[in-house]
Amino acid sequence: MHELKIETLNRHTCQILSGPQLLKKAGALISNAVSSSRAVMVTDSNVGPLYAQQIIDSLSAEGTQVEVITIPAGEENKTLATASGIYNTLAAMYIDRGNPLIALGGGMIGDLAGFVGATYLRGLPLIQIATSLVAQVDSSIGGKVAVNHENLKNQIGTFYQPFLVLSDSSCLKTLPEDEFINGLGEVIKSALIMDEELFNIIENGMELIKSRNEKTLDKVIFRSARVKTSVVEKDEKDKGLRQILNFGHTIGHAIETCSDFNISHGRAVAIGMVLASKASQLLGLLSQSDYERIKNLIRRSGLPVTLPDVKADDIIDVIKHDKKIKGGKINFILLTNPGAAVISSDVTPEIIKEVITAP
Ligand code: GLY
Repeated sequence: MHELKIETLNRHTCQILSGPQLLKKAGALISNAVSSSRAVMVTDSNVGPLYAQQIIDSLSAEGTQVEVITIPAGEENKTLATASGIYNTLAAMYIDRGNPLIALGGGMIGDLAGFVGATYLRGLPLIQIATSLVAQVDSSIGGKVAVNHENLKNQIGTFYQPFLVLSDSSCLKTLPEDEFINGLGEVIKSALIMDEELFNIIENGMELIKSRNEKTLDKVIFRSARVKTSVVEKDEKDKGLRQILNFGHTIGHAIETCSDFNISHGRAVAIGMVLASKASQLLGLLSQSDYERIKNLIRRSGLPVTLPDVKADDIIDVIKHDKKIKGGKINFILLTNPGAAVISSDVTPEIIKEVITAP
């Protein structure tokens, strides 16, 4: 089992544990983080049937009674209306401020249940049990919790650090292939921005990773989570350094939007990472051979590396309206080599157009 820690601004420690077969020990690990005779678990209709009972049994052996709230799976349910339904159930259960709320699932549950945990009674002790690769390497760590509202994605939310994040790599056996590959995009992003050794591990071990070899996955989950943890600890409230986690996202978001969301976030960001690497190369920061290595690695992961059938001008338009643009300059994340990112304001819409239209 690997352990990481974030000393949070709220003066509590967020413990991040990863490894195989962790759910079997969930009861003891949760009780150690937050001791209570009652807990409530929020999960979804995909994950709950697979893993909830194991955790209930394990917590019961520690003397903790768990009540479960199951919501329908799917990002479209990450809404204030769903949160409102959960508030009603928590009230009917007489949950009090000492009872931990356990979010069991992937990114959607982590965000939604985290948001409820942050706001109900002004905050319940939060435990994140991450079951998808994206959640294990990225979204369960960092404290940002949110719901979607009309066409505002993740814009109604707050920062709320969990006491414990549990990432059981054995859960990845049941993860649909598509979601697994999206998660690989986040693993590659972590390597590219901060961990050259992780980049080498993925380059040499891609086949083992894709066959979900437990030992290799364990290593890459830990190293990716370590990247996220170290960035969050230095910039918990997203004032500066955290921007590097957006590597590939400026162009990626624009691709998602221009495709009318027919291209998933993970796939759009993968193309965005390739194009941001190309921009780094055009600006003389990254060598041609490193650019080729990065593109090749992303291709081998099963993620796309070239733009789909969307117009370059449409992408530029979306980027120009991006909220992150200040004074015509975009805060863009570039690479100097695989494993080192810089925040640059030298990338103009013209450079992006050149990158997009480059052969
Ligand atoms: N919950 C994701 C983050 O804080 O980055």
